[in-house]
Amino acid sequence: MTSASLIIRNAQVLLPSGEMASKEVAVSDGKITAVGTGLSVSNNIKVIDGSGLTLLPGVIDPQVHFRDPGLEHKEDLFTATCACARGGVTSFLEMPNTLPLTITQEILTDKLAIAAAKSLVNYGFFIGATADNLPDLREAHPTCGIKIFMGSAHGPLSVDTEKTIEPIFAVGDRLIAVHAEDQARIMERRKLFAGQTDPATHSKIQDNQTALNATKLALKLSKKYQRRLHILHLSTGEEAELLRRDKPSWVTTEVTPQHLLLDVSAYEKIGTLAQMNPPLKSERDREILWQALLDGIIDFIATDHAPHTLEEKGRGYPNTPSGMPGVETSLPLMLTQAKENRCTVAQVSNWMSTAVAQAYQIPNKGLIEPGYDADLVLVDLSTYRPVLREELQTKCGWSPFEGWTLTGWPVVTIVGGQVVYDHGKIDTSVRGQALRFE
Ligand code: DOR
Repeated sequence: MTSASLIIRNAQVLLPSGEMASKEVAVSDGKITAVGTGLSVSNNIKVIDGSGLTLLPGVIDPQVHFRDPGLEHKEDLFTATCACARGGVTSFLEMPNTLPLTITQEILTDKLAIAAAKSLVNYGFFIGATADNLPDLREAHPTCGIKIFMGSAHGPLSVDTEKTIEPIFAVGDRLIAVHAEDQARIMERRKLFAGQTDPATHSKIQDNQTALNATKLALKLSKKYQRRLHILHLSTGEEAELLRRDKPSWVTTEVTPQHLLLDVSAYEKIGTLAQMNPPLKSERDREILWQALLDGIIDFIATDHAPHTLEEKGRGYPNTPSGMPGVETSLPLMLTQAKENRCTVAQVSNWMSTAVAQAYQIPNKGLIEPGYDADLVLVDLSTYRPVLREELQTKCGWSPFEGWTLTGWPVVTIVGGQVVYDHGKIDTSVRGQALRFE
């Protein structure tokens, strides 16, 4: 008899081979114990009927801003992870621009404690680089890596010259994730466009060259020190083509659903809700990014979930903050693309789970296989539903994709064997665990 406290029956299961098959998945003590047919389990366990549904590994979102502590008027770890539960996101890696900034062991430890108390899904945190916290960057534990804001940040997290960035690449061996925009160029171009209030100006100021300059510098330093580099939210065709020509084996990169699906035309429809960093680019950039993703130049997908209130977004450009929420729409957005034959469901799951677990060396996640953690999402690939503001769980209460009709919405989300989301209901008593990084 298979040891199980929970069994999912009748679903189409995405197997590690990439094939879909009708299988049963048994879960015990937070782990997958068996994947098979006609599994023998005891009678009194929880049964989830997956008829008509597809079972995927839970999404691991490797770039989010959940605002807790310090900016809880925008989002907090409870509301953000309710949104994760609804979006099929079972683990996340969060950025250091919370208050206080996550730049020391003590602050990282505090953040882990807040997450243990509030997070419905599994969590990991970046440590932020400043010009003078090298010992913290080397020692802090546990962390998925070092985040460097080469541009688009202010205050101590802005580490934006080769002179300040190079020592971080030179010392230590843990992963460095870069927000690659050239801050000096941004400052110059802000002067050129001073007085402009059209939000589309944002993409003109922080143009393709702004992103390319910083990506080139990060690549140069990574090669000089053979340092593990991850380039966050790639936004331009030029960066994708550069990496197509020259991407060392120790470098990875990601793209967001919004850089694949929205472009500068979005400003006309949703104004400053389309404002983010790095900014949306042209339709041509989107096409090149898509091809780079399909060709394996881009390794995986992150949302850069970065909520701001509608009041903040209504202040009028350029007084508006950059960023948009994403965790509760990313999986249906990408699965809708799969249904439209832009890619396959197996590719989406690889980009949103398996490849992320590999890149960040998160053990036992990202596959549906015995011994792996029972972080799972059952999605409905036959029904289409719109993105509705009133259903959003994120505290900011809006999405750039409102009104888009999507398929692949999660029906059940499971974190460590616990059902956290079930047909529209969130079990707010569920808590995730701190991720480990090997
Ligand atoms: O648009 C963005 N907003 N990009 C970032 O990298 C940071 C983020 C934020 O924290 O608001």
